[in-house]
Amino acid sequence: MRSGRALRQAAPVDRELISRIAHTDHPIKAPLDDGSVRRLLARGIPRDDARVLDLGCGTAEWLLRALQTHPRLHAEGVDISEQALAQADRAASRLGVRDRLVLHQRPAADFTPTEPFDLVLSVGAAHAFGGLLPTLAAAREHLAPGGRVLIGDGIWEREPSPEAVEMLGDFADLATTVDRVVADGWTPVDGHVSTRRELDDYEWSCWGTLASWALDRPADPDAPQALETANARRSEWLRVYRDTWGFVTLILRRTAD
Ligand SMILES: C[S@@+](CC[C@H](N)C(=O)[O-])C[C@H]1O[C@@H](n2cnc3c(N)ncnc32)[C@H](O)[C@@H]1O
Repeated sequence: MRSGRALRQAAPVDRELISRIAHTDHPIKAPLDDGSVRRLLARGIPRDDARVLDLGCGTAEWLLRALQTHPRLHAEGVDISEQALAQADRAASRLGVRDRLVLHQRPAADFTPTEPFDLVLSVGAAHAFGGLLPTLAAAREHLAPGGRVLIGDGIWEREPSPEAVEMLGDFADLATTVDRVVADGWTPVDGHVSTRRELDDYEWSCWGTLASWALDRPADPDAPQALETANARRSEWLRVYRDTWGFVTLILRRTAD
């Protein structure tokens, strides 16, 4: 999800609860399908025993997938959300990868690792650092020589309305985004622009799952607010940013270390 926008609530339903329900059927909290995540991880993980860090990991869905496909890989995730990390902890135990995953509950900017990482991930969490380039600067601090960064952030596919900028934040178009990253000393070695289908599937899934949850529980005191939120967010997406907002995920190496 983008910059916390999608979690703003008109009334005090638990934001974390809303987010958890909305992502039940789309545990990756970004508009990427399972095939894209699999391919990007395969391209980003340099070797079987890699050390991987995720800044703003949420429920650690990217790390859990990496751990499952690479039995010698070790991973660390950083997030401020106690509930998301608890969910990650339970999932890791269920999947038998808990002994290779370390979770840190703290602001990602405060994370100080003991050893560098071969791959640093940060998808949909650039707001934690104040934007794409500050996120790359932080990732660089944790990177082993020759390491890679896998970063996902918003782009404008078309000129946005002032309302879209106010709602989602300030992004650039794809070419400008990549130019800025290259000028900052990085070389893209792979990438993925979320397709119309991935963007639509993500929004339909989040707001449809939240609406279904509410409709299935007419007696739940949170149901009316959950349904209202689902309807409001779907409407914002369709009216304000569906035609302009996109998402790019880049795999980067330092141009010259
Ligand atoms: C859109 S979610 C993305 C989660 C995950 N990267 C994924 O793709 O599924 C953004 C995450 O950033 C986390 N976050 C926000 N501010 C943060 C901060 N200052 N430090 C660490 N995590 C933060 C949120 O708690 C949330 O889990």
